[in-house]
Amino acid sequence: MLIRINSYGDTPTPASEITPRAVFESRREFIRQLAVGSIAGGTLLEMASREAFAQSGAAQKLVSAMNPAYALMEKKTAYKDATTYNNFYEFGTDKADPAQTAGSLKTRPWTITIDGEVKKPLTLDLDALLKLAPLEERIYRLRCVEGWSMVIPWIGYSLSALLKKIEPTGNARYVEFTTLDDKKQMPGLHSPVLDWPYVEGLRLDEANHPLTLLTLGMYGEVLPNQNGAPVRIAVPWKYGFKSAKSIVRIRLTRDQPRTAWNNAAPHEYGFYSNVNPQVDHPRWSQASERRIGEDGLFTRKRKTLMFNGYSEVASLYSGMDLKKFF
Ligand code: MTE
Repeated sequence: MLIRINSYGDTPTPASEITPRAVFESRREFIRQLAVGSIAGGTLLEMASREAFAQSGAAQKLVSAMNPAYALMEKKTAYKDATTYNNFYEFGTDKADPAQTAGSLKTRPWTITIDGEVKKPLTLDLDALLKLAPLEERIYRLRCVEGWSMVIPWIGYSLSALLKKIEPTGNARYVEFTTLDDKKQMPGLHSPVLDWPYVEGLRLDEANHPLTLLTLGMYGEVLPNQNGAPVRIAVPWKYGFKSAKSIVRIRLTRDQPRTAWNNAAPHEYGFYSNVNPQVDHPRWSQASERRIGEDGLFTRKRKTLMFNGYSEVASLYSGMDLKKFF
């Protein structure tokens, strides 16, 4: 990612942690709207409690059943932090940018096409996606390659449910995810930070692992735009950049997909990018992490866990040298 290292061996104070001016201004606007009564009474408390000042509109509830297999005895990241400290370069490279600018993303109508090495290619709209399998709430750790982490209650279902429907051919070995590429809706696409569109990929067995979540919501609501609305992937044992946001296409391929960060800096961002405290990024250690909302600005108090604590995926990599296939 585009980050500089300070003398503590960590990233500099993100502008978003010192509440940015624009957020203050939208807070002021929120308070003003309260005063003039232009926010409906029913949604008032909820919006205030969530400090939904950075949102593009009132959040929409999404009903799901908690999956106890993915409960986590760790404190959830505050909604405010998870929705104002984001990486979504299509909306700017500062952590605070997506919450400020992603209101321009139109998430309905939305379709997602699943094609490539499949027997039954499909194009589904959002309602069809929402109905494809029972929605579950799963609390996952999210570890960014930059050295910070969060704990997020996602809503979705295993991607395998969708992959079963399209029947991969015998040639399918990888799954490629492509994010929307529309300069009118995504101001960050005007800067050549990456070779757009944002593309990520998994091996087919990784994509079919029950942990890989086709994600449609978080914190009991549909995904906020800045978190990848209306549909993203969450792959909790890999660094966060493997989890593409605002997906429009899923393509099954014979060959390993060319992915955005791997293309940009192959020595820094491997195709696998499994969370691994023993394999450092060339510019910083990956042995520990800073839990957003918990640790100080530069203190990485938590030891990073192999596969981000999801040891059940280890068998996917048996016999592989994870230093070489980083
Ligand atoms: N997907 C797209 N399309 N564009 C991005 O810039 N950033 C990635 C990932 N998915 C990114 C993306 C990175 S680096 C991380 S850490 C996570 O999204 C952050 O997800 P969050 O903002 O919901 O915490």
